Amino acid sequence: MLYLVSLALFASALSPASDALSTKMAKNLKVLVSSNDFPESGLDVLREHFTVLQSRFLHFGDEGINENKEELLNLIPGCSALVWSSHHPITKELLDKAGPQLKIVSTASAGYNHANVPELKARGIKLANTPGVLSSAVAEIAVALMLGAARRFTENLEQVRSGQWEIGFTKVLGQDIRGSTVGIVGLGGIGQATVKRLSGFEVGKFLYTGHREKPEAKALNAEFTTLDNLLNQSDFILLAVPLTDETLHMINSTTLGKMKKNAILINVGRGDLIDQDALYDALKNKQIYAAGLDVTTPEPLPKDHKLLTLPNLFVLPHIGSATVRTRSDMAVLAAENVVNALTGKPLITPVLP
Ligand code: DGY
Repeated sequence: MLYLVSLALFASALSPASDALSTKMAKNLKVLVSSNDFPESGLDVLREHFTVLQSRFLHFGDEGINENKEELLNLIPGCSALVWSSHHPITKELLDKAGPQLKIVSTASAGYNHANVPELKARGIKLANTPGVLSSAVAEIAVALMLGAARRFTENLEQVRSGQWEIGFTKVLGQDIRGSTVGIVGLGGIGQATVKRLSGFEVGKFLYTGHREKPEAKALNAEFTTLDNLLNQSDFILLAVPLTDETLHMINSTTLGKMKKNAILINVGRGDLIDQDALYDALKNKQIYAAGLDVTTPEPLPKDHKLLTLPNLFVLPHIGSATVRTRSDMAVLAAENVVNALTGKPLITPVLP
């Protein structure tokens, strides 16, 4: 008898009527989206299941720090999920305001150094990020930075703007990617996508370093080595690792001192992977050849920052994942992680499952 009742309950749990009921129940759950510019594709996924609250403000710059901070503190009480679309830190104050029903924070970014992992963990709140979907867009920017730094785009653009071209057979000569050794620090999704994109550039050798050898490296013809060897041998050094206690300022005066004089340092991870004062000195003194950065500390980099006086530095304003398609894919993945978390399914891309 008990068996039959359990069977009936199980069957009813799978029935369309119960689906409708759980959808109706989920509709009562509130999800807060932290910015007014979150792509519609992601909002559509959320609206199908939940009641969506959305900040009226941007989550970047001064507006993100000032107006949006207050807005989020006002909107978050009673929310079951928070979709985060910036690199602003997630504060204890905001989590306190949310209340105990907050089940998940879903950050629309691959990096999650801003997400206050220890605090989320202590409170039993899940955390999801959006790796994978942005690897090709960020890899394209890595290649752009390599070209921009190696072919002296900063100086060359300045010449075009000022009308003072240095025309001559041996003027503004740069460096080739052809025949070079490219060292990847962190052969994850972005590192691998960059190697694939460079496959037509006739790179001499790919090296990589990390915690362990990667099975994917074989097909990419990338050779595992230590960080020291990679720094000693590479003509291009690409940083594609997350910011952690271990990677904070991994590039400093000591590690810069191990690089070749013609080395070109590229960073698509986070600004704090590099000790920027040490980088400034190394570039100013021509201890290394050039650098290309998509990420800096702080962001935005003040326009009178000493780094911006260097002709051998090519800087972009953290646009690695900034394409229409990629931002939409990130928004959908962030939203789908929320759907899964609030309907009892495993996260698609968990940080804290
Ligand atoms: C990320 O997703 O972490 C990239 O830096 C883009 O925001």
